[in-house]
Amino acid sequence: MDQLVDALKAVGEPSRLRIVSVLARIELTVGELCRVIGQSQPRTSRHLRLLCDAGVLERHAEGTSAFYRPAASGLGRELLDVVKTLVDDADPAIARDLERLSAVREARAAEAEAYFSRIATNWDQIRFRHVADEDVEVALLEAVQSDRIGSLLDIGTGTGRMLEVFADRIDRGLGIDQSRPMLNVARANLDAEGLAHCRVRHADVYDLDLPAGSFDVAVLHHVLHFLDDPADAIAQTARTLKPGGRMLVVDYQLHNLEFLRSDYAHRRLGFDDDEVNSWFQDADLDRESIRYLNGPKAGPDSLTTVLWTAVRWPSLATTAPIGTESNSSPNNSFEVAS
Ligand SMILES: C[S@@+](CC[C@H](N)C(=O)[O-])C[C@H]1O[C@@H](n2cnc3c(N)ncnc32)[C@H](O)[C@@H]1O
Repeated sequence: MDQLVDALKAVGEPSRLRIVSVLARIELTVGELCRVIGQSQPRTSRHLRLLCDAGVLERHAEGTSAFYRPAASGLGRELLDVVKTLVDDADPAIARDLERLSAVREARAAEAEAYFSRIATNWDQIRFRHVADEDVEVALLEAVQSDRIGSLLDIGTGTGRMLEVFADRIDRGLGIDQSRPMLNVARANLDAEGLAHCRVRHADVYDLDLPAGSFDVAVLHHVLHFLDDPADAIAQTARTLKPGGRMLVVDYQLHNLEFLRSDYAHRRLGFDDDEVNSWFQDADLDRESIRYLNGPKAGPDSLTTVLWTAVRWPSLATTAPIGTESNSSPNNSFEVAS
C-alpha cells in the first residue's frame, strides 16, 4: 500500500506527469529532458529523483551520462503503464513537450547524419580500428546455422559490408541506411563486387516501409550504439522477420570509453546482456545465443564486441502493427529499389 501511495504521489503532479509521458516514449538524459519540458536542470533532477525513488523510473548510468527510462518492472512501472494511456497527447502542455521532443530527436539525427556523411569514404578504415572484423564475420556466418538464406535485411548497412559478407549465402539482400553518402559508397562497393542480388536503399530504421514477415535474417552490425531508441529499432526490425527468422545484433558490451561519444558520435557506451534480452522479449523475439568476441584487452576500459542472436516467434499475428499485415507480399518477396 505504501509503495503504491508513493508512486501515485510521484506521478500526481503536472511536471512529473509530463516527464513520465515523455520518458514512456523514449529514454533521455537529464539535459535532453530539460530541453523538452523547458525546466531547469536542478528542478528536473529533483523530479527525476522522486520518480526513481518511487520505482516509476530508473536511472541507467553510462560513463559520464545517465539515461532515464521507465523502471523495468514493479508497481511503479505498472502505474506508469496505466498513466501513459490516460494522458491526452492533445493536452496543450503535452503537445508542446512532444513538439520539443521531436526537435531534440531531429537535431540528434541530423548530427549523426552529418557525422556519417563526413566519414562515409573512410568508414571501412574506422570500423577496422575498433572491431576485429574477421572474427565477427566468421561468428555471424556461423550464427545463421544454414548454408542458404533466402532474404537478408541489413539495417544501417553503411558501406554495405554485411551484404558482402553474406553475399554467397543469400538469394537476395537489402541494406537500408539513412546516410546517402554511405549508400553511395555501398552501391559502388556492391557494384565493384558484382553483387547484383544485393541492393541498398535510403530508409530510417524507425520508419521501415517494408512488408511484415518478409526476411529470413536481419542484421544490426554496429548500429545500435548510434541510435537514440535501440529498443524501437529492434522492434521495427523484428516486424520484418518471418516467423522463425533470425536477428543478429553485433555491438559493444557496456564500456567506459567516453571519448567514443565525442570523437565518434556514439550515443550509447555499449549494452549489457539483460538490456538487449529485454528488448528482444518486447519485440516478440526469443533470445538464442550470446557470443563474446573479445578484443585484445577485454574489459570496461576496452571494447568487447558481442553477438546477440534471437529468433522471431512463430506467430506473426501477435506482433505485426495494425495495418502492416495487409502489406505482406504473399510470396514473401520484397522490393529492392536502388
Ligand atoms: C557505424 S555504421 C555501421 C555500418 C555497417 N553496419 C558496418 O558495420 O560497417 C552505422 C550506420 O547506421 C546508420 N544509421 C544511423 N541511424 C540510422 C537510422 N535511424 N536508420 C538507418 N540507418 C541509420 C548510419 O548512417 C551508419 O551508416
